[in-house]
Amino acid sequence: MKKPILVVTTHFVQPVETRIDNEFEVRRKADGTPFQHGELLAAAEGADALFVTPFDKLDADFFNRVSPSVKVISTYSVGLDHIDLPAAAKKHIAIGYTPTAVTDPTADIAMLLLLGASRRGYEAQELVRTGEWTVARSGALLGWQLTGKILGILGMGRIGQAVAKRARGFGMKIHYSNIHQLPEEQAGDAIFHADPLDLLRVSQFLSLHAPETEGTHHFLNAKTIALLPPGAIVVNTARGGLIVDDDLIAALKSGRVAAAGLDVFEGEPKLNPGYVALNNTFLLPHIGSATVEARTLMGMIALDNIQAVLAGKPAPSLVAA
Ligand code: DGY
Repeated sequence: MKKPILVVTTHFVQPVETRIDNEFEVRRKADGTPFQHGELLAAAEGADALFVTPFDKLDADFFNRVSPSVKVISTYSVGLDHIDLPAAAKKHIAIGYTPTAVTDPTADIAMLLLLGASRRGYEAQELVRTGEWTVARSGALLGWQLTGKILGILGMGRIGQAVAKRARGFGMKIHYSNIHQLPEEQAGDAIFHADPLDLLRVSQFLSLHAPETEGTHHFLNAKTIALLPPGAIVVNTARGGLIVDDDLIAALKSGRVAAAGLDVFEGEPKLNPGYVALNNTFLLPHIGSATVEARTLMGMIALDNIQAVLAGKPAPSLVAA
């Protein structure tokens, strides 16, 4: 039987690659560089499906011009901000994603950022790695404990809830804001703020877990940062576009925000150099879901989505059209 034609925009862990090779006729760029807009459209000509990542921007123009042969596009992410969903729906192209696979590893990275930022992880690493740790200094590198502090969680979906669970183990008190208040069995003792600005007012630590949408774009800016308690610590594992970088950098410089832990950046993989110039930032290169387990599961779910749609069967995780 003829295998379906799949356009693949990057390389994945070996079990996922093996499955791609076994089940599909594959189209990908031989040199491993990302597809440019026009190249992806050309590769999609006559293809059945696309397997993409958040680095592939599928906008309205893409969907207007994409080959009518394409029936499903599966993204290797929970985030969908890179895909124009209404434009996809208009073309009756099913969109698959991988929401369940990324929850635990991303929540773990949020904890790493909370700790890395609050315990001055970057400066501490530098001291050791540069050989400058020569004398015991009891007053040096003093950070701030999580114990007893309020953690504000913006966006209490799967990842937000998984962060709350972990942070409770560190003795933090959880407050959250979300489109809907969660039922008690999901929220536990977490305190709901219908207005996200009220959440900011109490958040000694703030962790962002909202998707990037028109409503959340640049949510954290000079005005909203001014609502945070002085010396708050900000963590972002969601999307860089939730923050106005220059405003957060100014607040980090002045100490209004004591530290920030960031795994995602607007315009990544480029990032505002102001973050790198500061000592009170703990920075990671978007590794929220970067575990062997998660990346394998994400790949398998993405391929299951594609195969199910092509076979006309129910898929494990499609975006509701
Ligand atoms: C996601 O799943 O959206 C993560 O950010 C990985 O891209």
